[in-house]
Amino acid sequence: MMFLNDNLKIFSGSSNPELAGAVCKYLRLPLGGAKIEQFPDGEKALKLEDDVRGRDCFVLQSTCKPVDEHLMELLIYLDCLRRASAQRITAVIPYFGYARQDRKDEGRVPITAKLVANIITAAGADRVLTIDLHAAQLQGFFDIPVDHLTGELVLSDYFRGKKLSNLTVVSPDVGNIKMASRYAARMAGPGHFSGDLAIIHKKRVSGSEVEANEIIGEVDGRNVLMCDDIIATAGTVCSAVNLIKQRGAAKIYISATHGIFAGEALERLAKAPVDEIVVTDTVPLTKEAKKVKNIKVLSVAAMLGEAIKRTHRNESISSLFGEFNSRCFLSG
Ligand code: R5P
Repeated sequence: MMFLNDNLKIFSGSSNPELAGAVCKYLRLPLGGAKIEQFPDGEKALKLEDDVRGRDCFVLQSTCKPVDEHLMELLIYLDCLRRASAQRITAVIPYFGYARQDRKDEGRVPITAKLVANIITAAGADRVLTIDLHAAQLQGFFDIPVDHLTGELVLSDYFRGKKLSNLTVVSPDVGNIKMASRYAARMAGPGHFSGDLAIIHKKRVSGSEVEANEIIGEVDGRNVLMCDDIIATAGTVCSAVNLIKQRGAAKIYISATHGIFAGEALERLAKAPVDEIVVTDTVPLTKEAKKVKNIKVLSVAAMLGEAIKRTHRNESISSLFGEFNSRCFLSG
């Protein structure tokens, strides 16, 4: 039985209470008491119901839709914990919104990921614990320690269990090649087929429109596992899936850490030749997505719970998962 003293407190914002509950269950701790209310003018008000003075506090909040509301709520939590004299505050952000606006790729645009990192730090976070940032180097946007976990182990273990033969792991764009090669390595092992790799050359036409132009690698007659960090409008994965189906792929599976399913995502996925879409619970599934039979959700609660326990005890997080697993849990 795990022993954690009452010096550790976990609070939940309103973005993902199910995941916060599952993390607390894993740690055998009660969720910290807090009341979040909204004034008639729309402003949020927070009151902690537990004493946090001198405690090691974690607040779990994914900055998913409504993104700005959840972000503001996280900032209010951080400010509140700091003013209530918490000894250390960790912002646990399973899904970090705004991560894709991480550079000036044209003139007169902000770098919103950096802005968000700045305000989280200014509000009072001493550390950040997050999962699959859009790019690992976003850790450097924070001037406080960031523990960067990945959903890959949870997801690739599931696919490994399927014992897929004749497999090609496909990266739907150039940015995901490293992730795809880690998946392919993870699929290998005694009695398991080591997946081949293929890469799609994609062109983004707009925020929601994507063209998959060409494939580097072999997919004809092969089962395909396509992996991505995020499915937002599903433009990326659907254009890639349609192309690989035209080129003769057999079964097609999609694996992604963050299942946002925004805009036309579900309509697109319904028309796409996909056998199964597997995501994690870093963001809660929308009501509509819950009705889709071939979407499966795996939980990252145990992984987050372990990382919180280790952080609280000032123990290494990477060593937790052993040599091989650390390469999968902790991307870089
Ligand atoms: C792109 O660089 C990312 O890895 C994802 O492929 C992309 O952001 C997913 O967005 P959407 O589902 O809207 O195409």
